[in-house]
Amino acid sequence: MNSYDSDRLLESIKDTHEQVVSPEMADVIVFNTCHIREKAAEKIYSELGKIKKIKKINLDTKLIITGCVAQAEGRAMIKRQPIIDAVIGPQMYHKFKNVIDQLKHKKVMELDFQSNEKFKALQNKRSIFNRSAFVTIQEGCDKFCSFCVVPFTRGAESSRKVNDIYNEVEYLVENGCKEVVLLGQNVNAYHGLNYKNEEVNLARLISTIEKIEDLKRITYTTSHPNDMHEELIQLHGSSDKLNPYLHLPVQSGSDKILKLMNRKYNKKLYLQIIDKLRKKCPDIALSSDFIVGYPEETKKDFQETIKLIKEVEFAQAYSFKYSSRLGTKSSRNNSNNICDQEKNERLQKLQEILNHQQKSYNNKFLLKNLKVLVKGKAKKKNQYRGITKWMQVVNFEISREVNSFENIKIIKSSNNSLLGEVQ
Ligand code: 5AD
Ligand code: SF4
Repeated sequence: MNSYDSDRLLESIKDTHEQVVSPEMADVIVFNTCHIREKAAEKIYSELGKIKKIKKINLDTKLIITGCVAQAEGRAMIKRQPIIDAVIGPQMYHKFKNVIDQLKHKKVMELDFQSNEKFKALQNKRSIFNRSAFVTIQEGCDKFCSFCVVPFTRGAESSRKVNDIYNEVEYLVENGCKEVVLLGQNVNAYHGLNYKNEEVNLARLISTIEKIEDLKRITYTTSHPNDMHEELIQLHGSSDKLNPYLHLPVQSGSDKILKLMNRKYNKKLYLQIIDKLRKKCPDIALSSDFIVGYPEETKKDFQETIKLIKEVEFAQAYSFKYSSRLGTKSSRNNSNNICDQEKNERLQKLQEILNHQQKSYNNKFLLKNLKVLVKGKAKKKNQYRGITKWMQVVNFEISREVNSFENIKIIKSSNNSLLGEVQ
């Protein structure tokens, strides 16, 4: 979502500003920050030293901190770090241009939660996008998982209107986009209003936008298991455009830990959802998030997570050491905290299994011909990068002009990507 937000911020000032290639050349430097884990939030502080040097030379250069670190620590940051000229929280991006204009005279803080005003401002025509584009449809979260800062930094759950989303997607597609990735912190809790002012769920929203003919693929992320309702599961079996891919974070396989995390489901329920999805869409690629070393997680609890991973067989996954975040419920639980060494060991063990699963999953595609949506140039010279409908990255070389979709024969597979030849 930060990647999407950064592009929207840039678009909102495109009449007066342009992007430069290095911070030394900039009049305004913006850090769009993430607060989800300590490691992410710390990045900004390590960057500030570099900016201090630039500001000593370029006296008029302004520094703005946006994103969830701004929301969570903005007031204190601006007091403690005089080089910061403004902080803008994630629900105030419609004020970005205005903030820049004010910086000549004063420091600025925009930390309210005006998601509806922001959504209205987002309706501006988009100019930065690819053949695959992110579209925010929902923001914030009301779930209050015990470890998570999102309800505090992004605010309460709020959904964009169906029409606004439809118009944005239609505009993107008219301009060459073939795939949309619908975004939200709790995206399957989507409940936006349609033109009759009736609330519509995510399945209905997808059914509406998939009528746009030249839109070929749709994905949504990130979902909560409890909002994986029947209609949405059904749609995975019936829609031609919904990618056979789902990122459904489980966090832990231990019912005790899930309860402490306030996830509001147990292992059995999660496995039932997976079962139903696989019945509707047998080739669905499943992805998840895991937290290891949560307070009070015993070796036995951890083994429950390993067991769940082995039962499900994931195609992809993200895993993290538990990180205590100020203001969350779990940060107040100081009993039975797991030491860092133990967390590292558990993480390594878990990742070994997940990496192995990911590799086996990718191996199944060897020598197959896949339709790949071309996203742009790859890191290696002469290579292009595309994506399958199971959301695997495919690198390939091509000597003619690329089409939006290419037919690629997979000749090599690794954990994180596939290598192929154009057919
Ligand atoms: N510590 C570790 N991981 C976290 N996540 C969210 N909050 C924390 C935290 N305090 C992880 C969860 C979530 C993903 C986006 O980040 O797994 O699904
Ligand atoms: Fe955070 Fe996701 Fe839980 Fe919401 S559902 S509180 S975003 S982990």
